[in-house]
Amino acid sequence: MKTIFVLNGPNLNMLGKREPSIYGTRTLDDIAADCREAGAELGLQIDFRQSNHEGDLVTWIQEAAEAAAGIVLNAGAYTHTSIAIHDAIRGVAPVPVVEVHLSNIHAREPFRHVSKVAPHALGMICGFGPLGYVLALRALADRL
Ligand code: DQA
Repeated sequence: MKTIFVLNGPNLNMLGKREPSIYGTRTLDDIAADCREAGAELGLQIDFRQSNHEGDLVTWIQEAAEAAAGIVLNAGAYTHTSIAIHDAIRGVAPVPVVEVHLSNIHAREPFRHVSKVAPHALGMICGFGPLGYVLALRALADRL
């Protein structure tokens, strides 16, 4: 069975409590459960992780080159700033990356309109809340 890394960046461990008017009330554990359920339907093994540290995300993206068939990535605020994550994604090509955001980053502050992930992602899903993760897994399953 193919493994998909579902990687989550800073502050996403606070989902459920963090700005619920923007991010909703579901927790990251709830989203992990959704991903595992979708993975079981799609025949994909889900390796779900979160870190507040940029370097952890870089290391996990590198690890995916050996250990995963694809990546679903919500890099949180590092999306908008991290050249290290941008380079890591380039470095593991052709491992496909689907970028996910719970909120519609294009309908928010201008600094969120820029993504350092997008140029090397298969695609981006934003604005659909936790459903975005499941849609990203479907997109990866289709591609694989
Ligand atoms: C986010 C959007 C980012 O701009 C923000 O910094 C996050 C969450 C989202 O899922 O909507 O932490 O990635």
